[in-house]
Amino acid sequence: MNKKFVSLAVSGIFLALGSQAALAAPDWGKAAKSTIHVFHPGVSPLEWVQGKGEHSGASGLKKGEACAGCHIEDGKLSLDTKRLASKEMEPKGAPKTLTYPVTVQAAYDATNLYVRLTFKAPGGGFDKSDKDNEVKATIMFPNDKVPLGDQTGCWSACHKDARTMPGADDKKTKYVSAGAMDLVQWKSSGKSADGFVADKRSMEGGKAGATAEGAKAGDTYTVTFTRKLAGNAVLAPGKAVPFGIAIHADNAGGRFHHVSFGHTIGLGADGDVKAAK
Ligand code: HEC
Repeated sequence: MNKKFVSLAVSGIFLALGSQAALAAPDWGKAAKSTIHVFHPGVSPLEWVQGKGEHSGASGLKKGEACAGCHIEDGKLSLDTKRLASKEMEPKGAPKTLTYPVTVQAAYDATNLYVRLTFKAPGGGFDKSDKDNEVKATIMFPNDKVPLGDQTGCWSACHKDARTMPGADDKKTKYVSAGAMDLVQWKSSGKSADGFVADKRSMEGGKAGATAEGAKAGDTYTVTFTRKLAGNAVLAPGKAVPFGIAIHADNAGGRFHHVSFGHTIGLGADGDVKAAK
């Protein structure tokens, strides 16, 4: 093959991919906006939220109540931020900004769910251990086999013996006791990860064919995730799917992220975030 032919063929492929992406991209100007507040959770793993002595939500959780049911009132967080910043919840040191809002939009078609986050990532972090990425944005979707997945969102995967928790093994990642969660992460260094959480976390090999793109304009980040309706969590039109958000701002690593409680995205159905077709 001569060189010219190869380059023509390659640009043809890019054109084809480009036009496909353009067709698939949702019109974000039309998608409904929801506000979800993320917060610095300190050391509050599943064992802590389920432990009666420390967390009075434990018995409600056992009865089937969701974190958001007790901790979100009129769309705002009902949490003691002073306590979140205290040595009790955060022995190492908390970021200066304990909570901030994230605008969430979603849309779907016959194949994919698209989720877009818009936020201002705060400075004033305590832990700056990720030198490569100023910001990372992650969403996770528990499937219906994950215990408490629809009540707690990401907390089902957050354990006291996971890396960066006080005294924990640095090799042990987040895990769920049954089922699996799809995980997709955008990194400001440009690499996105399509992974999952089962008996351990894997940052590749995800089943949802997920991708992430993001950009910073002024002080605002916009991150768009695309995942298949198929995956560990199988999404279907007419249904609401549980999900959770985590954002690592200001080069934070490990548990020093801001997270959401468990929320739902309704695909043409009611949900905290409404995805239109
Ligand atoms: C039945 C209601 C209820 C549920 C469900 C519930 N909580 Fe709580 N939570 C509370 C109350 C009340 C407090 C404050 C007093 C305490 O800690 O005992 C609290 C405190 C907290 C705190 C410490 C900050 C503070 O405001 O004191 C965190 C973090 C927290 N909850 C996280 C969660 C998470 C995560 C879930 C779900 C896995 C959850 N909670 C479920 C009622 C609840």
